[in-house]
Amino acid sequence: MRIVVGISGASGAIYAVRLLEEFNKRNIDTILLLSETGEKILEDETGVKKEDLRKLVNAMYDNDDFFSPLASGTFRIDGMVIVPCSVKTLSAVANGYADTLMARSAINCLKEGRKLILVLRETPLDLITIKNMLAAREAGAIVLPAMPAFYHKPSTIDDMVNFVVGKILDQLNIEHKLFPRWEGRKG
Ligand SMILES: Cc1cc2nc3c(=O)[nH]c(=O)nc-3n(C[C@H](O)[C@H](O)[C@H](O)COP(=O)(O)O)c2cc1C
Repeated sequence: MRIVVGISGASGAIYAVRLLEEFNKRNIDTILLLSETGEKILEDETGVKKEDLRKLVNAMYDNDDFFSPLASGTFRIDGMVIVPCSVKTLSAVANGYADTLMARSAINCLKEGRKLILVLRETPLDLITIKNMLAAREAGAIVLPAMPAFYHKPSTIDDMVNFVVGKILDQLNIEHKLFPRWEGRKG
């Protein structure tokens, strides 16, 4: 399985780090892209540097490298996750504005009918973003906002992060035990 992970400039870089760890554990072929602000927020929020992520992935490309394989839909991948996904990158994808390799690769997923998961992180939502979410969904993307739940009684930030990462893995049909599944209320 080959998956592209894009880290754009929204809060929540920790979700990306956890997801890359889960892919790495499973020997999933992972290609990583970071936007300029994504890289800065990664370091600011988690203390993790772009170079630290190199060991978790198989390849990395600059976000303006349109000569990389990812720029073409002919390059075979199984899917792409943009996590966290900024409203700006959502807008680019929803409007076919392929000005970065991340947006181009995501638009290729839509064009080729491959799985695209956008882990949006913004609140409250303006109407333009809501319309962009609708456009992305209509074009085939999965819009998966970073919204941790509380029914599994999380007690740590890690529990909350794992919930969102588990929901991403669910979309990719990857088995995990990152959160207990709801089995109905007892009694
Ligand atoms: C510390 C920080 C936090 C940010 N958090 C968010 C966020 O949660 N969601 C969002 O859509 N944009 C957020 N932004 C704004 C984006 O980074 C900005 O719109 C940028 O142009 C996104 O570009 P990119 O998608 O190419 O990374 C944040 C910016 C900074 C500096």
